[in-house]
Amino acid sequence: MSKICVIGTGYVGLVTGTCFADLGNEVVCLDIDETRIERLKNGIMPIYEPGLQQLVSQNVKAGRLTFVTNYEKALKDAEFAFIAVGTPSGVDGEADLQYVRSVAESIADQVEDKIFVVNKSTVPVGTGDWVADIIRKRRAGKPLEFSVISNPEFLREGSAINDFMYPDRVVLGSTDRVAASKVAQLYLTLRCPIMITDLRTAEMIKYASNAFLATRISFINEIANICEELGADVRDVALGMGYDKRIGSAFLDAGLGWGGSCFPKDVKALAHMAAIHGTHPQLLQAVMDINRNQRRRVIYKLRKALGSLNEAVIGILGLSFKPNTDDIREAPALELIHLLQNEGAIIKGYDPQAMENAAQVLKRVQLCENPYQVAEGADALVLATEWNEFKQVDFDRIYTSMKKPIIMDGRNLWDGEKLRSMGFAYYGMGRGGFNNGNSD
Ligand code: UDX
Ligand code: UDX
Repeated sequence: MSKICVIGTGYVGLVTGTCFADLGNEVVCLDIDETRIERLKNGIMPIYEPGLQQLVSQNVKAGRLTFVTNYEKALKDAEFAFIAVGTPSGVDGEADLQYVRSVAESIADQVEDKIFVVNKSTVPVGTGDWVADIIRKRRAGKPLEFSVISNPEFLREGSAINDFMYPDRVVLGSTDRVAASKVAQLYLTLRCPIMITDLRTAEMIKYASNAFLATRISFINEIANICEELGADVRDVALGMGYDKRIGSAFLDAGLGWGGSCFPKDVKALAHMAAIHGTHPQLLQAVMDINRNQRRRVIYKLRKALGSLNEAVIGILGLSFKPNTDDIREAPALELIHLLQNEGAIIKGYDPQAMENAAQVLKRVQLCENPYQVAEGADALVLATEWNEFKQVDFDRIYTSMKKPIIMDGRNLWDGEKLRSMGFAYYGMGRGGFNNGNSD
């Protein structure tokens, strides 16, 4: 059993702390957002993550998990301090490290005599050395035995608990191999590969992994756009590719592209790091350009199908950046809504989980209670997030309630041929196979 402090109770910090508690450790989670901590103490989750509510409550009940806003309490007797605070994009795409800095300073101020500082947040290569330097300078004159270890997170929102408990690998980086192996012991029970390398390499593994996954998605989206012109169906192309073990089938779903709080920020930050260190990230730039273009392609298709978007009523199904999360950060749906409203379109929207977050940022959008309300009187219906509950909606009901039966399937969720046979004008993403002479 170890005593662990996790700083930041966002999607990563809260899951990390709760899972460490569930493995038998004593965990104190700190956040500077007092409301968030109060709600957590009352069993109210700040985020929607399947299974999290139950895991938090059973570990709080067992006395292994507590929530505080005070650093002194959080760090008392702690052996490990995990930094899991936000690292949002700055004006030039760089990762904004102000929160990491303030946490490093608070650790230096409050910790007694020794601590392992573990960086869980995604931070630019070299940040580990920077954090160590901050702590060393801040503690000047007061003895402190500490090491900084990079331990990047690979949690996907919507499956974060599973990704923590059954990781493909744990990556640890430090100039102090003994310190890294101490952190490794926290993960031994997960019986997965544990890789120990140096700080910068561990930080780069995180960025390279996310950038590669984003590249796969932009690759299949480029193939999808070519398929549309050549009459091939990208879903089957991806299926055929995926049988090759060297390629695999994951992250080859063409559609509106990637959003969320990680890919956009991490690809931009990696490209920024490259650029300010004298290299030219052409591929990463293309990966971002293709991704942005996927939203614009949907606008182009809608404008073509409707003639003009001015005063067109467009229904958007799904507002979160992906299913099984309430996170709308950099969600493709939000970008679509912005582009459509710029052309005078009237927007209706619904999401199974993200309505509260969406209501805070969406202006002039009619937020509905179900997909049928969204479809009522719509000139076109856009599927932006492939939630399970959209898979088998009643299309007869949708067909009769829409003003125009135009469907833009942004995630290739539906059967285009079936919808066309019902009289819909169905547009997928790269579904050229349905051309049969109709424009896609
Ligand atoms: C975080 C990192 O931002 C990201 O780089 C990494 O890839 C995943 O972990 P996330 O968990 O989504 O992402 O962070 P976020 O949802 O922004 O929550 C951060 C939490 O830290 C917030 O609750 C915020 O109140 C808290 N925080 C922020 C602190 O407790 N102290 C601070 O100084 C700043
Ligand atoms: C990602 C990484 O997967 C995870 O390892 C890292 O720790 C954090 O960033 P997350 O952003 O939560 O996780 O979701 P993910 O499932 O990776 O999807 C990211 C985006 O890519 C979503 O917008 C999703 O809609 C999109 N996506 C995913 C595609 O467009 N096509 C795909 O085939 C897969």
